Amino acid sequence: MKTLIAYFSRNGWNPVNGVETYLEEGNTKKLAKKIKALTDADIFEIVPVEAYPNDYNECVSRIAYEDEEGVNVEFVKGLDSIEEYDCIYLGFPIWYRTYPRIIQSFIKAYDFTGKKIKPFCTNEEGTFGFAESVLKYNFKNSNLLQGYAVRGYKVNNDDPALAEWIKK
Ligand SMILES: Cc1cc2nc3c(=O)[nH]c(=O)nc-3n(C[C@H](O)[C@H](O)[C@H](O)COP(=O)(O)O)c2cc1C
Repeated sequence: MKTLIAYFSRNGWNPVNGVETYLEEGNTKKLAKKIKALTDADIFEIVPVEAYPNDYNECVSRIAYEDEEGVNVEFVKGLDSIEEYDCIYLGFPIWYRTYPRIIQSFIKAYDFTGKKIKPFCTNEEGTFGFAESVLKYNFKNSNLLQGYAVRGYKVNNDDPALAEWIKK
């Protein structure tokens, strides 16, 4: 059984425990690396063709524009197929209570039928928000497992729940 970790993460200015903080490395990327260290999975970073601005307000404007225009956010190709993988960890930050549009582009690009999907996210509020129901809708034909959510400022802490979740 082959496993893939696919994730999107943005470095730059981010709210971290209520304080705008510059992240050299995004929180979700840190979590993806922790999962990688606990599994023998392949890892794929979902990188936008046009990078999101490091500046928080500029990033907010870009996201607003994408939402208004219904933009299909393109990501850098590099993963031709996911056919060889039985299990996919799918990671993202929570933006406006759901996953970023680029995740939708990723989901649209491959066939996840019958695959085990393990979503993970980092956030401020501690939950998947609406992402949970959107994931259920998108992965109707997959085996979608319960996800792992962690607040960004806790991502480097030891969490026995992470290891437990990975075993599922
Ligand atoms: C534009 C924007 C919107 C956000 N919206 C939410 C939100 O609705 N709920 C939440 O819990 N966190 C929200 N956050 C916080 C991020 O989810 C959190 O900082 C996350 O750990 C960032 O991950 P990254 O560094 O991998 O991008 C938002 C962050 C940004 C930049």
